[in-house]
Amino acid sequence: MSKSVRLALLGCGTVGTEVVRLLHEQATDLTARIGAPLEIVGIAVRRPGRDRGDLPVDPGLFTTDALGLVKREDVDVVVEVVGGIEPARTWLVEALRAGKSVVTANKALLAEDGGTLHDAATEGGADLYYEASVAGAIPLLRPLRESLQGDTINRVTGIVNGTTNFILSAMDATGAGFEEALEEATALGYAEADPTADVEGFDAAAKASILASLAFHTRVGAADVYREGITAVSARDVASAKQMGCTIKLLCIATRSVDSSGQASVAVRVHPAMIPTSHPLASVGDAFNAVFIEAEAAGQLMFYGRGAGGAPTASAVLGDIVAVARNHLAGTRAASESSYADLPIRPMGEAVTRYHVSLDVADRAGVLAAVAGIFAKHDVSIATVRQSGRGDDAVLVIVTHGAPDAALAATVEELRGLEFVRAIASVLRVEGGV
Ligand code: NDP
Ligand code: HSE
Repeated sequence: MSKSVRLALLGCGTVGTEVVRLLHEQATDLTARIGAPLEIVGIAVRRPGRDRGDLPVDPGLFTTDALGLVKREDVDVVVEVVGGIEPARTWLVEALRAGKSVVTANKALLAEDGGTLHDAATEGGADLYYEASVAGAIPLLRPLRESLQGDTINRVTGIVNGTTNFILSAMDATGAGFEEALEEATALGYAEADPTADVEGFDAAAKASILASLAFHTRVGAADVYREGITAVSARDVASAKQMGCTIKLLCIATRSVDSSGQASVAVRVHPAMIPTSHPLASVGDAFNAVFIEAEAAGQLMFYGRGAGGAPTASAVLGDIVAVARNHLAGTRAASESSYADLPIRPMGEAVTRYHVSLDVADRAGVLAAVAGIFAKHDVSIATVRQSGRGDDAVLVIVTHGAPDAALAATVEELRGLEFVRAIASVLRVEGGV
């Protein structure tokens, strides 16, 4: 039996406590699988005196000096479950450059500055694993990094944020209010420390950038992802979706396409969208995540499971710990980042989707014709129109055929200026065959 593989654990919150618990409960099996025991030599936290229940760990291991812990000579692997950009980036770059492999769940950092981490890993000859950063427990990054390396991926579509899926599912199923559903998601440990990251789509955008980078062999950063959150989704939108046989989901959509001159490019977006209830993603409820991958040879693949929460996320962290510990003992490392394709990013204005536009208008002759004329002027073709009366006012719900995002934006801008348009109640994209 080899001597132990020594871990520095940075963070002991929702995910970190479950990592500690699993390391303890599964110690015998993990030792057998790795060929050496795992040993936690220190745990960095913000408040060492905080009550952590009956955590099976020596209280003497807690420290507030994360950087000091990372630098210790007796540390082989650094496990980071703190989150945020700094000081996490400093700790991880320090570890990687010193040849200490890193396991992290920190999607915000990977999306913001993953290149710096990958470069540091290459410099130090260390492993950088981050399965838990996207879709919690679902084995998704390993298939992209390894199993699908012989194929060409053209599209990744998914629900990758548990908190917003929990909220939208509750609004759809029970008519629950937004705030009430968010509070419950936070209490269950799904939401980020600042839930703005979830409800405004930043968390899903970070995950989309990680997925797109791996799928398309191109560095895609957080800033390359078009992002809209769910805070503007109303009970009226949910009801309107139901009338159309749809439900609303926060989707991440990453595509690779090739233009007529043979130039490939990628586009990555995160926004709420109506999808038909017959769509496989429509039945993904609660805090579950699901991701569709469309590859040239493999065809369609679907990954489904728990996308948030302490234990599911810790499962992915543990899988990575086993992989890097094995590599450490074998004196080897996994293949480094693959970003050779270096494809350009297409702007959102070129993305073609269908739209559901809900307008509050004056109910008088000529209004419908004028509205239709503006859609026609911007070459946005209307598929259906539904009108319902509200006294002197009316609600017009227009669903379009596929149109570029820029054309729809120009249409909405012009509608906004019309005297008989009282309000643009909502503009939602429609995905899948409605
Ligand atoms: P928590 O907020 O529950 O825990 C954060 C931990 O980091 C706490 O133990 C905290 O210490 C510690 N910490 C914070 N700042 C510092 C600091 N400056 N120095 C040392 N320790 C610090 O977060 P989660 O466990 O929910 O998330 C951790 C990471 O995992 C994040 O990157 C998150 O995005 C990611 N993730 C989370 C998922 C989830 O479902 N929760 C799912 C997938 C990924 P203290 O305990 O003393 O406050
Ligand atoms: N806040 C995230 C979510 C945690 O709700 O999906 C998992 O990454």
